[in-house]
Amino acid sequence: MAWSKIKTYHSIFSKFFGRLAMKKTLIIITGASKGLGKGLLSHFCAEPNHELVAIARSQIKASEQVRSLQLDLSDSEKLEQAIPEIFADLAQYDRIVLINNAGWIGPVKKVGKLSVSDWQKLFAINVTACMQLMNAFVEYCEALSSERIVINISSGAGKKPLDGWAAYCSSKAALDMLTQVAAQEAELTGSGIRFFALAPGIVDTDMQSDIRSASADQFSSLDRFLSYKSEGKLSSPAEVAEKIAYLINHTHQFPSVLQDVRQF
Ligand SMILES: NC(=O)c1ccc[n+]([C@@H]2O[C@H](COP(=O)([O-])OP(=O)(O)OC[C@H]3O[C@@H](n4cnc5c(N)ncnc54)[C@H](OP(=O)(O)O)[C@@H]3O)[C@@H](O)[C@H]2O)c1
Repeated sequence: MAWSKIKTYHSIFSKFFGRLAMKKTLIIITGASKGLGKGLLSHFCAEPNHELVAIARSQIKASEQVRSLQLDLSDSEKLEQAIPEIFADLAQYDRIVLINNAGWIGPVKKVGKLSVSDWQKLFAINVTACMQLMNAFVEYCEALSSERIVINISSGAGKKPLDGWAAYCSSKAALDMLTQVAAQEAELTGSGIRFFALAPGIVDTDMQSDIRSASADQFSSLDRFLSYKSEGKLSSPAEVAEKIAYLINHTHQFPSVLQDVRQF
């Protein structure tokens, strides 16, 4: 048989058996309508044996593979009511992944100019909704024998203060600590659930446009963020989604809870 034919058969067989070997996976992604979340949704939709629950305020197109849920995550009562639907029929999956990705930078303003309602809304999206979904994830998944992973999309801003970002920085610091406590509890109970708080780097999304439209008197780093865009230093959502998929597929290589895509 000609070598080119052997190579073609080999490729067809490996694709076929690769598909069979791929774990049946459920991925729940918040903020899947645009930006990084949309990049994650597109990435995992291309993976065989992957099903998705996609959550956002905007309508996301549903399909055989995607269950779409239109929900405002700042409304904790509505989110609580949606929990049974989000976590339905979990026993059929070999792997269940929750990606708390939805986030809001909020109005970029210094302390003294903050509005309590904006602050509360930002914490409801960036912290409380993540906590509610993690809480439900542990409750629904603790007794399952499948592989279970929670990835909270955090930020370098949770480790480093930036003027104008008081609410955002402190919300991501809270998310980092929430994730570390959940990971410690999983160790103690032996549940086997892996928890990560992952900084995605600087990603070319609407959130970055919002940052660039901040006023210079409220944000001393504005020029730096303008130059990230003009000098082409932003990662694309697709590049970051690929890194996150690598983490999900190789959790044994990542013993620490706090991760940064710029480190791998
Ligand atoms: N972009 C960056 O450089 C960067 C850097 C560090 C960390 N991050 C983090 O990465 C994550 C994704 O950010 P991104 O840049 O992709 O932001 P983005 O482009 O602004 O997208 C945010 C996503 O969250 C959803 N969302 C916002 N508020 C919501 C709400 N109340 N209820 C439900 N969904 C809501 C949005 O959907 P709807 O508008 O349809 O609701 C959208 O899908 C965030 O956690 C962010 O903090 C981003």
